[in-house]
Amino acid sequence: MIRAATPDDLDAIMLIERRSFPTDAWSEEMMAAELAGPHGRYFVDVEPGGDSELVVGYGGVRALRGSPDADIQTIALDAAYRGSGRGRALLRALLAEAAERGAREVFLEVRADNPVAEGLYLAEGFVEIGRRAGYYQPDDVDAIVMRLILPGRETTVLRTDSADPRESGHPEPRTPLHPENENENENEEGSHD
Ligand SMILES: CC(C)(COP(=O)(O)OP(=O)(O)OC[C@H]1O[C@@H](n2cnc3c(N)ncnc32)[C@H](O)[C@@H]1OP(=O)(O)O)[C@@H](O)C(=O)NCCC(=O)NCCS
Repeated sequence: MIRAATPDDLDAIMLIERRSFPTDAWSEEMMAAELAGPHGRYFVDVEPGGDSELVVGYGGVRALRGSPDADIQTIALDAAYRGSGRGRALLRALLAEAAERGAREVFLEVRADNPVAEGLYLAEGFVEIGRRAGYYQPDDVDAIVMRLILPGRETTVLRTDSADPRESGHPEPRTPLHPENENENENEEGSHD
């Protein structure tokens, strides 16, 4: 089950973060700032348990309201939970959030030596738009920069052939996708994606 992350999820997220990114995990301080930041949203994927739940994955998107672009900041599933569609579901939740905030394009970086993540992004419609040499340190691995253009809001079409106001203008939004972000991903440690 995917739900919005809260600062209380920090410890569980950091456990998966360190296991998933052993050489370039974000610091706890940085992750805490991400979870508390107003310019995006983090989700966690949880397995319900009796009295408590188990966080098995997380992902974050930076999307400033009013900005046309957004950035996938990170996404990871604990190893035992990979490969069964949960990463795709998390990514879709992030894209829907970006759309809800008004973004029209979503950007991300992915390590050139991570074909699983790249495959997920390609399958969801992202395309490579460039590379950043040596972006991931200390491993000296290139970043593949990818972009997804979100479906836009439908433009209002005023009908002139009907007297019924219910039949003119304002069609239902096609999908929840769209928003903003200024691609100001200034994380010192870089995004994971
Ligand atoms: C990348 C990650 C989030 C994907 O989540 P996941 O739950 O494992 O992936 P899913 O089961 O949702 O699969 C989605 C797509 O990913 C790709 N994929 C998943 N497992 C794969 C594998 N073992 N080999 C190749 N591609 C794979 C496929 O394109 C797949 O689509 P398909 O099932 O239609 O073929 C997850 O594997 C993970 O946490 N990896 C470690 C951390 C990481 O690399 N994060 C991304 C940083 S950019």
